[in-house]
Amino acid sequence: MTTADRTVTAAADLEAPFTIPPDAYVSRDYARLEQELLWRKAWLQAGREEDIPAPGDFVTYDIGDDSVIVLRADDGSVRAFHNVCPHRGRRLVDTPPGERNATGHRRNFICGFHGWTFDREGQCTFVQHQDDWQGALTPERTALGRVKAETWGGWLWINLDPDSPSLREWLGPIPEMLDPFELHNMRCRWRKWIVFDCNWKVALEAFNETYHVQTTHPEFNVFGQFRGWARNHGLHTNIGYDAPKGQEQDQAKLRLGSGDDPRLSTAEMQVYTWDNANTNTTRTLVDAALRLKDELPAGTPAAEVSAHWLRSAREADARRGVHWPVVDPAHVARSGTAWQVFPNFQIGHAVNNMLCYAARPWGDDPDKCVFEAAVYELWPEGEAPVTTWTYTAAEDWPPVLQQDFANMRAVQQGMKSAGFRGTQPNPYMERAIGSLHMNLARFMGSGAPRRLD
Ligand code: FES
Ligand SMILES: [Fe+2]
Repeated sequence: MTTADRTVTAAADLEAPFTIPPDAYVSRDYARLEQELLWRKAWLQAGREEDIPAPGDFVTYDIGDDSVIVLRADDGSVRAFHNVCPHRGRRLVDTPPGERNATGHRRNFICGFHGWTFDREGQCTFVQHQDDWQGALTPERTALGRVKAETWGGWLWINLDPDSPSLREWLGPIPEMLDPFELHNMRCRWRKWIVFDCNWKVALEAFNETYHVQTTHPEFNVFGQFRGWARNHGLHTNIGYDAPKGQEQDQAKLRLGSGDDPRLSTAEMQVYTWDNANTNTTRTLVDAALRLKDELPAGTPAAEVSAHWLRSAREADARRGVHWPVVDPAHVARSGTAWQVFPNFQIGHAVNNMLCYAARPWGDDPDKCVFEAAVYELWPEGEAPVTTWTYTAAEDWPPVLQQDFANMRAVQQGMKSAGFRGTQPNPYMERAIGSLHMNLARFMGSGAPRRLD
């Protein structure tokens, strides 16, 4: 078989063992090419709709060398512009030192260099000494460059390629699978970011599989080991668990602990998760789990414990005005626990909370990325906290995430070793990794996984 024959080009190929060469993770040339061939072609999640509620509100989003202003327009829609002044190329809006991005409210954007001024439609409304250009400064020459912007799921999405497909086409089956979870109604409990010492793909791949949980997070093993799966959906993937027989309702993220007494193990798992990850659950779920031992007799079958726990939490939330959407259990099971939105965003969804990860390059350094995590939940009307992106040193992240960080740093170091022959992901549990690189190679023209057989 020739090398070409071994290249993974279709989803079915990902079901067989494959290897991924290290270039995509460690090569500076590859990282530079990604700017042109990937980041300037893909739909990118650039912020949250609630961050720009009123006309004139804006956030910036930086991706490698490019920076984009995402703005709420006067008609309530979302507009995006290249964050660069057409006069001499000054970045129009500066990111305050140490911040993840700029944010604010503007009637006009005034360039700090010579004062050219732009309205919320990106049109230039003022140029000092405009006559000096002898009529050559047409609106086309002075307007800000437009960037495509759309919304879905409560997020702001941008695409630097004017000829890109629509966001809906890009997202494929994701809206159908995730719209029932009403993610647009969720608001952040916390959001943290860090510039981390690994490639953006290494960061994402620390969270897009469950194969690592048993070894990296051994504390969770006492709560039962569920076998994880990963499925390809064109550009994207999702992951989930195969639940043990009799616990099919537990295929979703809101699952019971295992062991002799699921009332107690579920409470323990919820408390551990709340204290050490502060993700994938809510205070209401933790409290409902802690009540299980008083509300149910010992020996209650697991399926009844699960149903009671979720009903009791749902009712407790409803009493404070927080209403979980009702999603068909078969749909919940099919949707799994998280979706990897190509290229660099992961949505870990549930009916009442979600955990999202994103990673993107830091300049053109293949050994660094901006990594960020945001935890969302449903809040009573008007009670969602106002959160901002908080730069958080590695040692200040929740302990469970620090366990993942230790791997990310060490993987980046290890893959640069002369003795490393390329990754060999688990074709069942780590298939999302193969899918990411198969699709990446379609944009990049190289770096595709190769079959190992
Ligand atoms: S570079 Fe912006 S006004 Fe001169
Ligand atoms: Fe992990």
